[in-house]
Amino acid sequence: MKARELKDKFINFFVSQQHVEIPSARIIPENDPTTLFISAGMHPLVPFLLGESHPLGKRLTDVQKCVRTGDIDDVGDETHNTFFEMLGNWSLGDYFKKDMIPWSYKFLTQELKINPEHLHVTCFEGDADAPKDTESYDLWHSQGISEDRIHYLPKKDNWWGPAGSVGPCGPDTEMFIDTNPNAGPIDFVTGCKQRRIIEIWNDVFMQYYKDADGKFSEMPQKNVDTGMGVERTTAILSGFSDNYLSSIWQPIIQKIEEISHKKYSEYTKSIRIIADHIRSAVFIIADGIEPSNKEAGYVLRRLIRRAVRQGKILGIETNFISKIADAVLDNQENYAGIYPELNQNRERIISILDAEENKFRKTLNNGLREINKLIERSKSVSGKEAFTLYESFGFPVEMIQEELEKNNLSLDIDEFNQAKEDHQKLSQTLSAGKFKSGLADNSEIITKYHTTTHLLHTALRKILGDHVQQSGSNITADRLRFDFSHNEKLTDEQLKQVSDLVNQQIKSSLVVTKETIPFTQAQKEGAIAFFGSKYPEIVSVYTIGPKDSYFSKEVCTGPHVNNTNELGTFEITKEESAGSGKRRIYAILK
Ligand code: SER
Repeated sequence: MKARELKDKFINFFVSQQHVEIPSARIIPENDPTTLFISAGMHPLVPFLLGESHPLGKRLTDVQKCVRTGDIDDVGDETHNTFFEMLGNWSLGDYFKKDMIPWSYKFLTQELKINPEHLHVTCFEGDADAPKDTESYDLWHSQGISEDRIHYLPKKDNWWGPAGSVGPCGPDTEMFIDTNPNAGPIDFVTGCKQRRIIEIWNDVFMQYYKDADGKFSEMPQKNVDTGMGVERTTAILSGFSDNYLSSIWQPIIQKIEEISHKKYSEYTKSIRIIADHIRSAVFIIADGIEPSNKEAGYVLRRLIRRAVRQGKILGIETNFISKIADAVLDNQENYAGIYPELNQNRERIISILDAEENKFRKTLNNGLREINKLIERSKSVSGKEAFTLYESFGFPVEMIQEELEKNNLSLDIDEFNQAKEDHQKLSQTLSAGKFKSGLADNSEIITKYHTTTHLLHTALRKILGDHVQQSGSNITADRLRFDFSHNEKLTDEQLKQVSDLVNQQIKSSLVVTKETIPFTQAQKEGAIAFFGSKYPEIVSVYTIGPKDSYFSKEVCTGPHVNNTNELGTFEITKEESAGSGKRRIYAILK
């Protein structure tokens, strides 16, 4: 089956069950700016899972662009991807298990035509926090799944969330396919270990709330959150154990083969890495990110550089990344026809990729010089020095080894690995913190900074002009950070005007109101929206100030404070460049 067919079938199925299709949110979280990327379909919906009302109702479905970089080093095997698309459907306090499980069964067996005899499902076995999920078990059984193919598993396998340390969570039921039933019966756990039995869909029943003391209580709003990976499911339905053999990857892989004159069957790992990393890079750039040394920009830089390095292994010594990107951008059926941001940003994507590749090729040459200096001086490169070259220049360790070998020297790879491990532990701890504070953080102070961001956005437009557009936003409990398009450094006078204007609005006790209206009407009324993004037909609009003489009006999912007088005193703490044609402001509330 082709990916597009799977996506269409999924969306149509849920639309026929009265769900509304919503477009994918940007891959960079908008209202949860403390995490780098959207990592699951439910992630942009967190405010609604927590009770905020969604403009399009209580039944939603979508295909969401996701990026997960936690196991970037595993990319190159049959299954790992950094970018992927996740299909999902949601009940925001509407239907629950009794509807969801029969729908799941129907979709798998009737739409995807999976033989029910090849399905396995798992349910939560129960513990001190929540009882055994016998309801799900009974529902599967009544659908026709026999008892030997329904398995109870503990919390570590059959529970999802909370995404942070507190928040909505609940038991899930996961669906698996036996991909080689002809090989005879197999024990479920063994089958999973051998990757013969593979998970394809997860229905999460968000019926509990975990509080700060670790206690679980029943939530008033019971949600359903489901997730199905497009790449994996497409491959399985096409009978491939190697995800990269599915039609999703073929145009990209063919392009790499064509440029390198190397075959996928011989250079499998390198070709997979290039295909995966460039596809991710294209989507990340399309959503407004540029390579840098920080956060999402840093991830993007690493993706591009790793792809260049793999290209060298294939013998490609001139710029080729943007040509591979063309294969992604040209894919009308799967990508360009669904995500308008790809076509709209095509030139920008290509030129950013080219520039980064040039820069990295220069770095590689400089790095080679650096290594040769070390070799001349001390007849060695220590593991730690190699790690520094690797981490700060992005210089690939294999190339350091190659250079040393040319001089009959060798690298202490254990020392290198130790340095790398120490570094990874540190960054994992940091990013775990990021994820935690991110997903569930709708705390009061974050909400205040969110409303303040709207005030700042409009104040900048009023003082500097309408060319000012938000290009990024990041909020922590301590400050807001706002990136916007503007060519020059702001003068002290301009900064003062901007903060005075924001403080005036705070002092004027402006009421903040939310309306749910068609996107076209919002645009007509002058509401600010993210340029180039695809919005649902009906959106929430937040207006600050009286309806006929408002100060700010923005399309936004919220949440926001009710009145600007809750905000305190606004102060800009820093203004700096955020790349070419972009400025960045840090500000606090006191
Ligand atoms: N949140 C669940 C997952 O990521 C289902 O969408 O698997």
